[in-house]
Amino acid sequence: MTISPDFSESFYRQHAQRYAEVSHNFIQSVYTDMSHPMLGGDRDLMDRLMELVPPGCRGLDAGCGAGARDVYFYWQRGYDIYGVDAVEENILEARRLHPEIADRVEVADLRRALGYPDGSFEFVLCNAVIQHIEPDVTLGMTLPELARMLKAGGVLQLMFKCGDGVATVYDGDYGVERAFQLYAVEKVLDMLEGQGLGVVAGESGKLGGVMYFKDPKPMDHCVLFARKDA
Ligand SMILES: C[S@@+](CC[C@H](N)C(=O)[O-])C[C@H]1O[C@@H](n2cnc3c(N)ncnc32)[C@H](O)[C@@H]1O
Repeated sequence: MTISPDFSESFYRQHAQRYAEVSHNFIQSVYTDMSHPMLGGDRDLMDRLMELVPPGCRGLDAGCGAGARDVYFYWQRGYDIYGVDAVEENILEARRLHPEIADRVEVADLRRALGYPDGSFEFVLCNAVIQHIEPDVTLGMTLPELARMLKAGGVLQLMFKCGDGVATVYDGDYGVERAFQLYAVEKVLDMLEGQGLGVVAGESGKLGGVMYFKDPKPMDHCVLFARKDA
């Protein structure tokens, strides 16, 4: 039997409120088996991104999730950030929880070209999203689109589940089995390099380079910051 990742979006439609609760309480955002001593969870990545990109910069959270936690987080800290997600319930939940950013979040599908002009953003986040997209589409459309929308010198934060094929795992926070597309790290790095994006190194012990961790499910993840050539 072939197992496919849950491209159907039905999981998020059903669990939007619970997802927002889990995400806003950082319940699945604490890592183990980290490859970098400074990487303990999502908050560490947020702190590092704010060092790489100053407040006031324009950003996009591609696949912002139910409640758009990170759009709200960066907006509160002075960033001109927007969020898109394929699932309407996720966007409605963001508007319900954070009416202040209601006009900053909208429905859009990263399997297709987005309407933003080239170089629209100084930073783009894409965290735990390509696990729901077929690899051909991710490598042929989604990641090139994200690169296109970045300004020269802009930073992409990309987090993905790494490995081969599709993995299914029981997610105790929702009481269901979930299926995720995994990615070979080298393939993703080659693709980014081809788009003029180079991995930001971790100078002076700061977060950087190609980093790895496990989430509480537990699943193996890779996360990196990549800067677009000036
Ligand atoms: C695991 S959640 C991650 C949410 C958020 N980035 C975070 O780090 O908490 C994955 C999100 O990707 C969204 N997503 C999946 N496929 C998508 C697509 N093709 N276009 C836009 N969003 C998508 C889902 O609806 C879901 O909100």
